[in-house]
Amino acid sequence: MEIIIQPNAELAARTVADVIAQALLAEPRVVLGLATGVTMQPVYDQLVQKHHEDGLDFSRCSTFNLDEYIGLAADDPRSYHYFMRHHFFDRVNIDLRHTHLPDGMASDLEAECAYYETLIARNGGIDLQILGIGLNGHIGFNEPDSAFDSRTRVQALSRATRAQNAPLFPAPAQVPREAITMGIGTILEARQCLLLATGLEKAEIVSKALEGSVTVAVTATALQLHPNSTIVLDKAAASRLEKADHYRETPLPKPD
Ligand code: F6R
Repeated sequence: MEIIIQPNAELAARTVADVIAQALLAEPRVVLGLATGVTMQPVYDQLVQKHHEDGLDFSRCSTFNLDEYIGLAADDPRSYHYFMRHHFFDRVNIDLRHTHLPDGMASDLEAECAYYETLIARNGGIDLQILGIGLNGHIGFNEPDSAFDSRTRVQALSRATRAQNAPLFPAPAQVPREAITMGIGTILEARQCLLLATGLEKAEIVSKALEGSVTVAVTATALQLHPNSTIVLDKAAASRLEKADHYRETPLPKPD
């Protein structure tokens, strides 16, 4: 695992956007795994800026999002479909036919999960998977105790996750109780994983995820097993790491 600590959240987001831009420049048909959430918004803002100012071209890439709530339609402002269009897809020249999110309204949810896995495989697998981390250590919506070989499936959301996401809903009771998520096994098959965490409230879980024992109790620890994973943090999210000084000596990835 490579750990990059940036002085602030803006520079951390920029580092992630730069890695995505480099991947696109190296391979315009790159398959990106994408995440939603507050942490990701500045990353998408940076990518939109690169599109407008530097002509960064998204027209040939494909994307697969990690997750979607069950029971929210694509045009529901709280759905992850809506989030992606609002924050990213509608602001760049991506071909919407190449963008994918699980369908939380599917009548047969199990079939939808299997279909999502098939689609990822048919596209040659994910080259670069972007991840955030939940306060309980989840990646995607892989809540504590998710098996490391789990695949795309329906996942009941924990109380902690529903509380974390409640501010986006009119009332906490309206946060969906279930979601479709890529599994840990699905995520670990990506050729590269890139996790971004910012802010003091993530510091404790980041230290468990990066320096704690590998355990299904903190599913982000699975990234310790991945041969090509990079973690980008701001100073606040890194503040509980015991070996922060050592990680700071790691050189930043060089643009091609
Ligand atoms: C979202 C996702 C989640 C979030 C995580 C952090 O697609 O997969 O794992 O990345 O819950 O969310 P924020 O960034 O809102 O703290």
